Amino acid sequence: MNKLSVNDLNVQNKRVLVRVDYNVPMEDKDGKMTINDATRIQATLPTLRLLASKGAKIILAAHLGRPKGKREPSMSLRPVAAKLSEMIGKPVAFAEDCVGDAAEKAAAALKPGDILLLENVRYYNEEEANDAVFAEKLARLADVYVNDAFGAAHRAHASTEGVARIIARRGGLCAAGLLMERELHFLGRELEKPARPFVVILGGAKVSDKIKVIDRLLEMADSILIGGAMAYTFNLAEGFKVGKSLSEPDKQDVARAAMKKAGERHVQFLLPSDNLIGTPVDTGKVNKKGKPVMDIQNPRTTQGRDVPPEAQGLDIGPETARRYCEVILKAKTIIWNGPMGLFEDPRFAEGTNAVARAVAEATAKNGAKSIIGGGDSVKALNKAGLGDKVTFMSTGGGASLEFLEGRVLPGVAALSDKQHE
Ligand code: 3PG
Ligand code: MG
Repeated sequence: MNKLSVNDLNVQNKRVLVRVDYNVPMEDKDGKMTINDATRIQATLPTLRLLASKGAKIILAAHLGRPKGKREPSMSLRPVAAKLSEMIGKPVAFAEDCVGDAAEKAAAALKPGDILLLENVRYYNEEEANDAVFAEKLARLADVYVNDAFGAAHRAHASTEGVARIIARRGGLCAAGLLMERELHFLGRELEKPARPFVVILGGAKVSDKIKVIDRLLEMADSILIGGAMAYTFNLAEGFKVGKSLSEPDKQDVARAAMKKAGERHVQFLLPSDNLIGTPVDTGKVNKKGKPVMDIQNPRTTQGRDVPPEAQGLDIGPETARRYCEVILKAKTIIWNGPMGLFEDPRFAEGTNAVARAVAEATAKNGAKSIIGGGDSVKALNKAGLGDKVTFMSTGGGASLEFLEGRVLPGVAALSDKQHE
């Protein structure tokens, strides 16, 4: 990476604005917002410890949820300040506002090594609009900018992009944090000359979400294994029946084009040869969004690729899991993005779990580099207790997908180039 690193900075006694991705899952427990998974907080500790040891005054900016410019109390970052303090083992100050008096006073009170977390930047519409005046207000808080928010780097927002441009324009340095560097290394550099075989496992609901990634990885991989509801669009395109499975009938040509490209490039392109299915039955209830709640009954395995008209495909079948695992176990480089089925329901988790076990085994026994592309696959791997058995798990969801597509992330593009120093 030719971007400046936090390692290269001299920040003694300087105010450093650090953008972090603390968009963590939270839940209301007895009227108190509680953090369900602190992985994203944990992942920033190396950068924060490094900056503190260099004598920086650390000012953290982050978003939580999508409050759309309103001060939505359930989306306050205050509980995150408490959690971070507990995890890093020292006080973390909190400012009720991310710009203006409250923020400026709190920032001015910092001593070298101190940490301040600003309130949710998305309490202002100007954040997502990348408003220049708002970005200027953020920039007023700092001398130096560090972006460690890989998970939000695909957003060109004021705290991820605009503020860096302003600080750079007035001669301040803008560097990548250690987490940002690790993410860019594993999802980028590490895949430039992959050890082979290079196996890509893609799941999730929609072909339309993943087609650009498929297209790019078809140029790099030896094998692509498809699972999740996405597989049913490919099945439709090949003339099989999908019953009530989620599918995108209007994306069949996209699916066909991907399979054609795989053929031309001699990439092994595998689709499920059997399915775990269930029969959705209307419970008569509706969910919060007013959609009917379905109960899935009679889980069973299909012989072959067709799904009967009353049923829905919800996981890869056992024969498919066996075929996929065979390929995964021979891999030297693995990318996995997206579960194989509805893994949140234990009845439809086996395909995803089998893949998770195979990825872990290939890593341990075969020395494979296994890179997990964030979101649901990380959740599934952690649920299977295998989170520490892979080479790298991304903290990004959308960001990791966009980066794997080969797109330039605005949050990265805005950082200073290395030769700047
Ligand atoms: C995420 O959780 O995907 C990132 O924090 C970005 O959040 P967003 O999708 O609301 O921009
Ligand atoms: Mg998102």
